Amino acid sequence: MEVHRFEKLWLGLALLLIVAFIGTVTYGAVGAGVQMIDDSGGTVEADALDEHPQFSQPGTYKTGENSYDVYVIARQFLFQPGSSEPIRVPAGSTVTFHVTSGDVVHGFEVASTNVNAMAIPGQIAKMTVEFEEPGSYGVVCHEYCGAAHHTMEGQLRVLPQNEFTANMTEG
Ligand code: CUA
Repeated sequence: MEVHRFEKLWLGLALLLIVAFIGTVTYGAVGAGVQMIDDSGGTVEADALDEHPQFSQPGTYKTGENSYDVYVIARQFLFQPGSSEPIRVPAGSTVTFHVTSGDVVHGFEVASTNVNAMAIPGQIAKMTVEFEEPGSYGVVCHEYCGAAHHTMEGQLRVLPQNEFTANMTEG
């Protein structure tokens, strides 16, 4: 059987495309630093957050030399902290977010970073990120959570190391 050389060429190109598509999908899944949020954050009583050691005082807790835990509660229609006061972390730190909801399902997305979780009552979404440079980020709720969903937003400030200490919530 003879295969025309143009047919061979197109077969080759089609094969190359398939390999390239598999390549981009694989890269997107494992190569781009994407971490899925699993259930390792644990659970919490959604209606007893004020009895929780950290969620009763949500905010930034120092856990090591350059590492911090940030506890955030999403509620209709604000983030605690985040909305009435920004979430504060120091630059050059590793930050582990622990996010839950006090009422209904909300979203927790730190715009222009890869921090993006659902805030589910009873569940703690846990994710770790590094913030190298000082800066300011918007925080948005991306799950429809009620009439004022579109107003539910907050702020995250990554402060220079020396400005941070004063604002820190004591752990
Ligand atoms: Cu909270 Cu939408």
